[in-house]
Amino acid sequence: MVPTMGALHDGHVSLVAEARKHADHVVVSIFVNPTQFAPHEDFDAYPRTLDADMARLGDTADIVFAPNAREMYPDGYATTVTVAGPAHGLETDFRPHFFAGVATVVAKLLIAASPDVAVFGEKDYQQLLVVKQLARDLALPTDIVGAPTLREADGLAMSSRNAYLAPQERAVAGRLNLVLKDVIASARSGSLREAEAAGIEALYKAGFDHVDYVAIRDAATLDHVAALEHPARLLAAARIGKTRLIDNMSI
Ligand code: PAJ
Repeated sequence: MVPTMGALHDGHVSLVAEARKHADHVVVSIFVNPTQFAPHEDFDAYPRTLDADMARLGDTADIVFAPNAREMYPDGYATTVTVAGPAHGLETDFRPHFFAGVATVVAKLLIAASPDVAVFGEKDYQQLLVVKQLARDLALPTDIVGAPTLREADGLAMSSRNAYLAPQERAVAGRLNLVLKDVIASARSGSLREAEAAGIEALYKAGFDHVDYVAIRDAATLDHVAALEHPARLLAAARIGKTRLIDNMSI
């Protein structure tokens, strides 16, 4: 299974190809999940392109599950799944209800489809760890597989939200991945905290309006780290105009 919110791009399609390596039958879900959006966020504006998505999937998916909100959350719906551990901090500091919404809908989707394998992108690295924790803790009979981030030619991570970017904003967005590479280089040769701070400054200089975080964390737990002793992950979130972008890389 490959859960998505639609507005499919090549990154999504690469997850479908990854799923196909593991399974004879692939289910793609397309559902813009209202419970993971805060009232001030972009739920209404989020692109909904079901016909184009179906055409793009062609016969790469055996089943497309595109429920409506009433099917997923009928009147009287009252259950929420919350995950602690890797859900602490980072995205949660800025989108406090986000992972409860994600965990709830992913639990429902995985229970409904009961797939052997579900594929999630490293693009949303914290989400991938949250989903792995969810599957382990609820003993869901599904292996959670992570797949690498697909990028545009200038390195910008593909995202349905890139469609919001005006041309000038798009140019700024392309700097995010370059700044992250610089942060990794300086983290390898010096202080992690100084590398993070320099990354924040570089993003403002590149034209981002607000930097939510640039953080080097343990790659398995997302705990704070003082040194690069174990596999680490650099994660960042920053805003240009109304668009919020996230990206991450392994260190
Ligand atoms: P959505 O943003 O549509 O992403 C669906 C899946 O595609 C996620 O696993 C995401 O990490 C992956 N993805 C997005 N951009 C990618 C890229 N550039 N390269 C590779 N994979 C990429 O993430 C969600 O939807 C939702 O939160 C969801 C899990 C469906 C729950 O509602």
